[in-house]
Amino acid sequence: MLNRRKFISFLPTAMLSVGTIAVSKSLADEKYIGQKFISGEKYENVSAIETLMRGHGLLMRCWNVYDVFKDGILSNKQIDPKLILKTTTIIKDYLEGYHEQMEEKYIFSQLEKVHNYFPAIQELKMQHGTGYALTDRIISMVKADKLNKELCNYLTSFGQMYRYHSAWEDTILFPAFDALESKSAIADIAATFVIEERKILGTTGFESFVNDIIKVEKELDVYGISKYTPTL
Ligand SMILES: [Fe+2]
Ligand SMILES: [Fe+2]
Repeated sequence: MLNRRKFISFLPTAMLSVGTIAVSKSLADEKYIGQKFISGEKYENVSAIETLMRGHGLLMRCWNVYDVFKDGILSNKQIDPKLILKTTTIIKDYLEGYHEQMEEKYIFSQLEKVHNYFPAIQELKMQHGTGYALTDRIISMVKADKLNKELCNYLTSFGQMYRYHSAWEDTILFPAFDALESKSAIADIAATFVIEERKILGTTGFESFVNDIIKVEKELDVYGISKYTPTL
């Protein structure tokens, strides 16, 4: 049984704000968005919430292949452990290293000030921590070559938790954030997201993670939308 309380995660505030200033000053081709200068036109008009929601799309593709791993293991099919580890790397590097840090630092912190949302935010933060623990368990079991029912239970738990977690964020908290913040604050946070994404993930960060999950899907022969259209 996981100890939920001990997994509440917090980002060191000073670390992020110092990094933000350093990166924004070092950019050469700057554009003014919100209260910050950022380079490149590609990110104009992309809100922080859109950035997070596309991250949920990437996450959905990860738990979709988790289902494929699980079904394969339970039906005694050969599953390449490297594919599971490639997927956990996406989760660790993108979801844990960027997405959830940004949620906690810039979105949750604002909503926590609103009494009605406080309990939900605490639960979501605990789920972030539980997600870290689940992923660590999945990695250690795969590395120990334990592709068994216990591993399948962790893969299932991960998908079940994040399915509802991300749906709650998309339908309750993100709309609440947009309603709470002023337009200038939203633009400012959008610029901060771009700067942090470049710093943490690099300029091709998100796209490279999408390419990685595509490679896993192709290896598993589950790539493509038509794979999931039922025949009626
Ligand atoms: Fe989250
Ligand atoms: Fe999220």
